Amino acid sequence: MKDAAPQTVHLSDYAPPAFLVEEVHLTFRLAPRATRVLSRICFRPNPDAAGGAFFLHGEELTLIRAAIDGAEVTPELTAAGLTCTVPDGPFTWEAEVEIAPEANTALEGLYMSRGMYCTQCEAEGFRKITYYPDRPDVMAPFTVRIEGEAPVMLSNGNPVGVGEGWAEWHDPWPKPAYLFALVAGDLVAERGSFVTRSGRTVDLAVWVRPGDEGKCAWAMEALGTSMRWDEERYGREYDLDVFNIVAVDDFNMGAMENKGLNIFNSAAVLASPETATDANFERIESIIAHEYFHNWTGNRITCRDWFQLCLKEGLTVFRDQEFTADLRSAAVKRIEDVRMLRARQFPEDQGPLAHPVRPESYQEINNFYTATVYEKGAEVIGMLKRLVGDDGYAKALDLYFDRHDGQACTIEDWLKVFEDATGRDLSQFKLWYEQAGTPRLSVEESFEGGTYTLTFTQHTPPTPGQEEKKPLVLPIALGLLSPNGDEVVPTRVLEMTEARQSFTFEGLASKPVPSILRGFSAPVVLERAADRDERAFLMAHDTDPFNKWEAGRALARESLIATVRTGAAPDAAWLEGVAAILRDESFEPAFRAQMLALPTQSELAQSLADRGETPDPDAIWGAVEGLKEALALHLADLAPALYDAMRVTGPYIPDAEQSGKRTLANAMLGLITRRDGGERAARQYAEADNMTLTLAALACLLRAGKGSPELAAFHERWQDDRLVMDKWFGLQIMEATPEAAVETARRLTGHPAFDMKNPNRFRAVLGALAGHHAGFHRADGAGYALLADWLIRLDPVNPQTAARMMTAFQTWRRYDAGRQAHARAALERIAATPGLSRDGAEMVGRMLA
Ligand code: PHE
Ligand code: ZN
Repeated sequence: MKDAAPQTVHLSDYAPPAFLVEEVHLTFRLAPRATRVLSRICFRPNPDAAGGAFFLHGEELTLIRAAIDGAEVTPELTAAGLTCTVPDGPFTWEAEVEIAPEANTALEGLYMSRGMYCTQCEAEGFRKITYYPDRPDVMAPFTVRIEGEAPVMLSNGNPVGVGEGWAEWHDPWPKPAYLFALVAGDLVAERGSFVTRSGRTVDLAVWVRPGDEGKCAWAMEALGTSMRWDEERYGREYDLDVFNIVAVDDFNMGAMENKGLNIFNSAAVLASPETATDANFERIESIIAHEYFHNWTGNRITCRDWFQLCLKEGLTVFRDQEFTADLRSAAVKRIEDVRMLRARQFPEDQGPLAHPVRPESYQEINNFYTATVYEKGAEVIGMLKRLVGDDGYAKALDLYFDRHDGQACTIEDWLKVFEDATGRDLSQFKLWYEQAGTPRLSVEESFEGGTYTLTFTQHTPPTPGQEEKKPLVLPIALGLLSPNGDEVVPTRVLEMTEARQSFTFEGLASKPVPSILRGFSAPVVLERAADRDERAFLMAHDTDPFNKWEAGRALARESLIATVRTGAAPDAAWLEGVAAILRDESFEPAFRAQMLALPTQSELAQSLADRGETPDPDAIWGAVEGLKEALALHLADLAPALYDAMRVTGPYIPDAEQSGKRTLANAMLGLITRRDGGERAARQYAEADNMTLTLAALACLLRAGKGSPELAAFHERWQDDRLVMDKWFGLQIMEATPEAAVETARRLTGHPAFDMKNPNRFRAVLGALAGHHAGFHRADGAGYALLADWLIRLDPVNPQTAARMMTAFQTWRRYDAGRQAHARAALERIAATPGLSRDGAEMVGRMLA
């Protein structure tokens, strides 16, 4: 039962828990339709709390019996949990509840995925397993006994014993309930081991279904690399005898950092060269690292309440970004991260769903696992590091781990360690956590008598509930180039703290060309009316790889916008600039490939909206097609040559070097296909022995309006592999024309292998539609209507995944009146659905407000 009137939770209402937990003993008697959960929990009054009633969260539980200190009690049950009269002083609570994992399609709490029992407790899923103070500031050691028929039964911590039909686990590290996990099923392990720097041996295992053993090696390797990296870079050692990872097919998110027992969406762990692309391999490596890094940033030090989510997520994303930058190419990683930030976080920050990195209120916390909390949260830490320097950052982190190990903390605690370690006052910096919206940064310049002055103005537009914005602390990394291309002022970080602020540089022989916001040193929109020549100059001469890329990106954006507005021909300066970089072998292939990545169509729509114009998705689509055609023509000779030069010989390795070559080769294949009609792509498809080459070839063919035989062959070969079939579903929609995208998606929802209950499959189809800009935003509203139909169907089954995908509508107010009317109708239809979940109601409510 969902509450009738959704309640809003406020950060300002935080109160410490009335009772603390000393220890937890759980026994699970597993059965698909009637699992019994027996709990024995030692409570004591919290000396730091102002009293308060004894309340335990509990949802969708059948209480069989309850006792306090051995005597049966009859608690008062509410929709959200129970209350009970308790003795003064410490006491032991016992309860037995019944739950039905098989009926759990929301994939939160204890559920079943193809015969396997598994759990997902973050954020508030533990209350669907048993009665408990389900809040992160209540931490306790857990002992867990699992009884059942499954050959493998796992929980957190170290194994204590295992016998016929039972297994027992003990986790000595006090943890909040959201980190609890249990897995039971017919599983096989890829095993490994790791010797920590203090010499302890840790047994590692990646558990998968029989048949998937061949797809775990990469995850295992990434795990070892992550463990070593966290020791070397952060001085953090692992703290249990075992580390288990389990792959689960039905999972709402990417993965979960449960203590000692990480549970992964199988898409985020399983990989072989035949079934996974280079991008998949890189993503798996970073998610393995991310979850592992949570052991310290999240588990040993956790969050006081869910408003502090960015304390663990922003920091852990930042850490996994550093990890990938160290392992692969720092420049390419930065570009990838900024592309992702702009594609996912900027639209959120500039629309109805905008919220601070640390939100101040929510109705459903599951709706706040957002790009803002994660990716902008990581950007904020990057800025902090830029401001205090590497040494200051290292000192602050050491202090953080020293001071707060074993605690549930806040952003205030986090900032305080930086203040104490570096002596800096971070009160203004804290606004980054409190103020929503993407700041706009504009620049004026003047040059007189050898003195060059840059004047910056910052402005953050209003966001829902925050009309007035204050100036933020902006670290602006800057370099100056002389007109001949030499760097006259190497990178330095300017610290902007006012709404308008000037910086001067003296003794310059001539007016320099500024390279502003190097490495994307702050997550802002730079509004610089730079001219085309300056951008072309920076594209050719900037020594900062990010800004070199950025200059090209800006040129492409302006070229596309001019085409949309006036039908202007593609900018020759961009075409020539790209060609020059592609030819320059001093740049690594992955970087060269990044130079070809155009702004997304949604970003172009936002750029137009920012300039007060109404974006036309079809015109944007047309402009992008035109630019790609022009590039294909401009590179008619270079593309085939580069394609050949990038051929990889020898065994497949998903490392930066090989995958960079394949990325560039595949980008060339896209251009070649525009000229040869798919001949080369068909050949690549036929010869490919890895999924990276296969999928790229298939994409090219589909884009060219071909590929039916290949699509059928692909289906034939991979129909039993769910993860590969997700690609088959998604690709057909992604590569469809704007006219065909909706029909293709509709047809695929009728395919026998379409399964709404599997989040990966649902996302493969409906997520691909939502990501097809011109297809989703079709003028007649068919895209909106189809997505709304499916969200309405999914909501009662899996509210989290449905609500998450509702964000596809967040930009609806950018478009013309006709599209707006269709989008509004779709949103209102969702809002009017009887019994709509709290998750869904909050999302549509915010978007319609
Ligand atoms: N905490 C997980 C992570 O970032 C994400 C997650 C959130 C997974 C909620 C499941 C549910 O690693
Ligand atoms: Zn995380």
